[in-house]
Amino acid sequence: MDPVQELEQLLSEAVPSVEQARSPDELERLRVKFVGRKSRLADIMKSIPQLAPEERAEVGRRANHLKRSIESQLAARREALSSAAKAGPLIDVSLPGRAFPRGRLHPVTHTIDAILSIFVPMGFEIVEGPEVEYEYYNFDALNIPHDHPSRESFDTFFVDLPSPEPKKGRLLLRSHTSPVQIRVMERRKPPLRLVVPGKVYRPDPLDPSHSFMFHQVEGLMVDDRTSFADLKGVIEHFLKALFGAKTKTRFRPHYFPFTEPSAEVDIACTSCGGRGCSTCGKKGWLEIMGCGMVHPNVFRAVGYDPQRVQGFAFGMGVERIAMLKHGITDIRLFFENDLRFLEQF
Ligand code: PHE
Repeated sequence: MDPVQELEQLLSEAVPSVEQARSPDELERLRVKFVGRKSRLADIMKSIPQLAPEERAEVGRRANHLKRSIESQLAARREALSSAAKAGPLIDVSLPGRAFPRGRLHPVTHTIDAILSIFVPMGFEIVEGPEVEYEYYNFDALNIPHDHPSRESFDTFFVDLPSPEPKKGRLLLRSHTSPVQIRVMERRKPPLRLVVPGKVYRPDPLDPSHSFMFHQVEGLMVDDRTSFADLKGVIEHFLKALFGAKTKTRFRPHYFPFTEPSAEVDIACTSCGGRGCSTCGKKGWLEIMGCGMVHPNVFRAVGYDPQRVQGFAFGMGVERIAMLKHGITDIRLFFENDLRFLEQF
């Protein structure tokens, strides 16, 4: 090969090799290879005296130039490697650590936990039931007659599938957690003390206080002589534990088909303390739950003898309680999953 060309080629090989060298040892190997005494460059230089006179000057100049540029590149690279070594490893230990986003419980879950953890020490066990329910458990067995307004399809989501057990009626999305009372009593004998958390569904139009899905906690206690006084004691203890020892409560007569007598329970307004404000609609009281003594027809439906057992039941809306506890004014916030809301709990 023509020595001028060969020198060009050596340069184009040497430059990237030196540039990528990672250690002084590697640089030394490259030095020996490209400019050492036994290198190709050394051979070319030795052969210069034998070249034609018109070539000598040109090849000599180029060979020297090649040698100097490789040597200075080696020196520069050696310098760069040693100052990197002095600077230490490429980790800045003073940088703050990487923050891992932390998950948290949903405020509805928090509230359910808070409610259940008041009943569990009183001997109530936690039970769950299906969200897709038969008409029989949601209505019939709970003494809700066929002509009761809440039977109308606009009050319940019916499931458009053939019922696996036609004797239990059509399938629907349960509109309350009370059907779980029936499912448990059907299988078990008193004494019973249950709390039942879960989702319920009602075709209400969305607004700040309505959602077509929300959560309830149901309660049931059945024994041979469980009285309305027991109901009052349990509920008052519960509301004081949840809202504070000074919480005032009142029981207002009400109607539920599955309890008799029935009551709604109010607490003194959590924002105005009873003086009247926009939260309580100037009434001073907030409706917090429904309750009553289990209706004899409900006991008959599960094969209990209403002459020999007595019990009470109650049901409350979880979102409503969470809203009152935290001063939340729109139920939809619970379901939009905006992190700016969820991260506050
Ligand atoms: N199931 C009723 C409701 O959804 C609440 C309730 C439960 C009332 C148990 C009395 C007894 O409104």
